[in-house]
Amino acid sequence: MRFSISLVLLFSLCLGHGIVELEASHCIYDQLQISLNVSSNSTDQPYRTGYHFQPHKNWINDPNGVMIHNGIYHLFYQYNPKGVVWGNIVWAHSTSEDLINWVSHEPAISPSQKYDEKGCWSGSATILPGDKPAILYTGIDLDNNQVQNLAFPKNLSDPYLIEWEKFPKNPLMAPDSKNGINASAFRDPSTAWQGPDKAWRVVIGSKNDDLGLAILFRSEDFITWSQAKRPLHSGKHTGMWECPDFYPVAVDNVTGLDTSTLGSNVKHVLKVSLDNTKHDYYTIGNYNYRTDKYIPDNGSIEGDRGLKYDYGKFYASKTFFDSARNRRVLWGWINESSSVKDDAKKGWSGLQAIPRTVWLDKSGKQLIQWPVAELEMLRDNEIHLQHKSLDAGSTHEITGITAAQADVDISLEITDINKAEVINLKRHHAQKLCNERNASAKGSLGPFGLKVLASNDSQEFTAVFFRIFIRKASKQPVVLMCSDQSRSSLNNDNDKTTYGTFLNVDPVSEKISLRSLIDHSIVESFGGGGKSCITARVYPKLAVDDKAHLYVFNNGTEAVKVASLKAWSLKDAHIK
Ligand code: FRU
Repeated sequence: MRFSISLVLLFSLCLGHGIVELEASHCIYDQLQISLNVSSNSTDQPYRTGYHFQPHKNWINDPNGVMIHNGIYHLFYQYNPKGVVWGNIVWAHSTSEDLINWVSHEPAISPSQKYDEKGCWSGSATILPGDKPAILYTGIDLDNNQVQNLAFPKNLSDPYLIEWEKFPKNPLMAPDSKNGINASAFRDPSTAWQGPDKAWRVVIGSKNDDLGLAILFRSEDFITWSQAKRPLHSGKHTGMWECPDFYPVAVDNVTGLDTSTLGSNVKHVLKVSLDNTKHDYYTIGNYNYRTDKYIPDNGSIEGDRGLKYDYGKFYASKTFFDSARNRRVLWGWINESSSVKDDAKKGWSGLQAIPRTVWLDKSGKQLIQWPVAELEMLRDNEIHLQHKSLDAGSTHEITGITAAQADVDISLEITDINKAEVINLKRHHAQKLCNERNASAKGSLGPFGLKVLASNDSQEFTAVFFRIFIRKASKQPVVLMCSDQSRSSLNNDNDKTTYGTFLNVDPVSEKISLRSLIDHSIVESFGGGGKSCITARVYPKLAVDDKAHLYVFNNGTEAVKVASLKAWSLKDAHIK
């Protein structure tokens, strides 16, 4: 495969200096948006996944308009039909009966009108009374303004809702500078909700200098929308809020709620995707429909000191209420960590995370996320391990499953908290700590956990592990969870950032659990039963397919115990 010199130059420009040009937070590679001089049908595909959603080829980003209608799940997503980088964006469309196996259809919404000629960007579905789905999406008009448009299914009796019609009176919401809206920062309508007063509300992501905004619009009929005087919420020093998602969660209950639900046993979640940091952050708080204000709880902090859905790669996410199974399901886009040159070689870029069920933790202070139960139908070859001591410095291989495509659920116990290192945590950020002390750096209680996608000589591995410390100030134990990619590949062109977070588990009275979904080039990890999630993209050169191994390890000076481990091979999902 040969690249022209100018293409190589372009790649190095974009890689070396980060970004050539920014529009809607995506790197623009003019030449690659359409013309691909490289094969996108390469048969050498060690990094294609077996059970994650990804199209056959080309670029994908945000999940859009996710919903269930008449028992069929719909996933629309931002897609470039012509290349492996962002550009030419349409709403691609796939449907499923189980959220795991998918059939693809023609793009549902493509540029065709003056109000969306330059792009059909992200948006959401709302199920209107009479079980009628409606999509609100951002169009880029001929003057490069971001405007909000409506589309309906052409034929409601088509179970797959393949054809969509744009509403003749589009655009329904346009940026008004008198109202302080910047025309290039007005996008990504949320799912709408209806108040007891019957008025519909929707939020649109925006910013005013570095003040992030969830601009509120109201409508009686879903067609005529007017901007509320004040945003639903705003956040200082957070920059552009992309893809806002606003939804109710039940208190003391894992059941999901319809987006319009209000009540005394209901809290609300506001998620925003921060363009500045490329992470999805959420707060939990109270929504008053009379004032149309959302107020995060004390301690529920906006931005980088607050909570992320996922501390690795996971962006522009969106939830929907699954009325068939009474749960709220979260979709998120997972970008590549490889170079654009390598993306062009493999012919594709980006995939969607396994959909996660989300609910409010008993503490009321955070959400729990867990892969949808349907994933378990792909499990095969179950293996068990119980009450195994992991001595200081030991490694134990888990065999009997396909380590490159697996589901592993382990629960670990420490033996003596008094052996934990005392640490002054004020000075440390979790991710920084994980970088300073990677999986190879010995500690006392930890690092211990899993080495996945590992070569048999340990030249390559991705380590998902824990370390236990005692906080100097409070004398309380604290659990650090890390996903260390520093040794994940012999190819140094990849972004190998190590991710980390603290895990809200008491290591003295509770076991520390970790579930990792391994799928060739992706490792999605759920710590503490879904309290903290970290997703990593990795591209091993050696630990590929049947050359990939799975280990449990303890690189601390103190023994830990594997209370239980279950692991399965995961079969391929059918994604056509
Ligand atoms: C988020 C985003 C959205 C925009 C879309 C364009 O990744 O930048 O704000 O609508 O992607 O593809």
